[in-house]
Amino acid sequence: MDGDGNGLRLRLRERLAADGQAHLLRFWDGLKEAERDELLADLDACHFPEIMRFFRQAVQGSEALQEQQKVDEHMEPVPKEVQGSITRDREQLPTWEAEGLLQISQSKVAVLLLAGGQGTRLGVTFPKGMYNVGLLSQKTLFQIQAERILKLQQLASEQFGHKCSIPWYIMTSGRTMDSTMEFFVKYNYFGLQKENIIFFQQGMLPAMTFDGKAILEGKSKISMAPDGNGGLYRALGNQKIVEDMESRGIAYVHVYCVDNILVKVADPVFIGFCVKQQADCGAKVVEKTHPTEAVGVVCKVNGLYKVVEYSEITLVTAQKRNADGRLTFNAGNICNHFFTLQFLKDVVKIHEPKLQHHVARKKIPYINDQGQQIKPDKPNGIKMEKFVFDIFQFSKKFVTFEVLREDEFSPLKNADSQDGKDTPTTARHALMSLHHRWVLNAGGHFVDENGTRIPAIPSSATGMSEAVTAVVNDNLKELTDLPIKCEISALVSYAGEGLEKYVANRDFRTLLIIDENGAQELIKNGL
Ligand code: UTP
Repeated sequence: MDGDGNGLRLRLRERLAADGQAHLLRFWDGLKEAERDELLADLDACHFPEIMRFFRQAVQGSEALQEQQKVDEHMEPVPKEVQGSITRDREQLPTWEAEGLLQISQSKVAVLLLAGGQGTRLGVTFPKGMYNVGLLSQKTLFQIQAERILKLQQLASEQFGHKCSIPWYIMTSGRTMDSTMEFFVKYNYFGLQKENIIFFQQGMLPAMTFDGKAILEGKSKISMAPDGNGGLYRALGNQKIVEDMESRGIAYVHVYCVDNILVKVADPVFIGFCVKQQADCGAKVVEKTHPTEAVGVVCKVNGLYKVVEYSEITLVTAQKRNADGRLTFNAGNICNHFFTLQFLKDVVKIHEPKLQHHVARKKIPYINDQGQQIKPDKPNGIKMEKFVFDIFQFSKKFVTFEVLREDEFSPLKNADSQDGKDTPTTARHALMSLHHRWVLNAGGHFVDENGTRIPAIPSSATGMSEAVTAVVNDNLKELTDLPIKCEISALVSYAGEGLEKYVANRDFRTLLIIDENGAQELIKNGL
């Protein structure tokens, strides 16, 4: 090693040793120049004094959480006055929808997609938004969302007689940025205007051993992971996104997760409800189905709004019911939020630095002292993450809006497996069964190969004729699939509206696609 190289190593070692991270240089002497550059770039991205502060706070917070009694006695449900509901407030829906569309028509509403996750459970190497769940159209999650935005812009423009736009802010991470942007370029931004799609990147933090050492995943590569979807707030500040929103005249932001195939981006009813309530922060929720369902519930803890995980409460509390039979803590969080820009500005400026990271114990691949890559079979370290809902506690006027799970929530989390939950199959089914219902509501019908009408809501195999059953028996994927496959492009309908002209009083076979070209029946084997 030349004198300069030695000097650099010594300086680095000294700097890293101050924070207990000198081990990151243990392969330095054997690294080629390009590898040293790679490691230097990673080290540059890590400000260890701050990272160690995050680490200590996160571990302390996690220990305190483990030691503390369950939060039951400090919890109360969301008060009735701040709840809205798609089923219980039917008469109000047109007013809220009109208000939401008005705001959209004035280009005051933006959508913000959280797409920085790694999709580990789904097991793909590309961003989840690029996933094709196997719809008739083969559209990806990104395309489905883009088309909903396009349609909503069109609906608001038509209704108010002037053009409008819904800017789409897309948060990616170091791991998903390049491929996400390339994908949008490849598909020509799905028909949206390029300048209305704003990509930005959340922060990354090193994965740490339990005793606070950053983990090397290769000899010259630190194992870095995005800092959780609550990394949003720091990114909003340091990537100047709040300023961008302000310069575009945005007043309201709808934040959502990439993996919910049913997400109603910038849902005018939800936006209108929140605006009419003068809320600064709102959460869409679905009713928790059973006491032990693993879903976070929105509630108040010590007077502040929080999302409480099932593991944080006792079974007794989880099972508590109201006089009407509904669970007392039933507001299931679906990562679908409304924020005013003013609230986001306060969060970025005042509150974000107070947020602590949560600890997620994970199996983190690493390189051992002999230079071998190891995939551990039990958790060997932690990732530090913030959550998007961590800021509810700062809201001055918080509201919830309950919607129907079958209409609005079907997340893609896991790969397909027998009886799997939240898989490509369940996501595909959820969308097609919603669209099936839209066709029925608009006066259309489905018939089997003999022309006999298929019952309105068939339950799995019972809706199939013998002939169809024989075909599907040949193929496991088909067997687990729906008897009626129907897909409606968002370019045609955002929420089931405007379908009568395509379907009223018409009979359709079981493969139906409705898009810009009208209603087309597909031939089964031609797919
Ligand atoms: P999940 O917590 O389900 O994570 O993210 P994930 O990355 O999709 O999947 P796993 O846990 O690795 O299997 C919920 C939403 O938050 C976003 C995801 O992209 C998804 O939309 N997210 C998650 C971020 O934007 N950044 C993160 O650091 C983590």
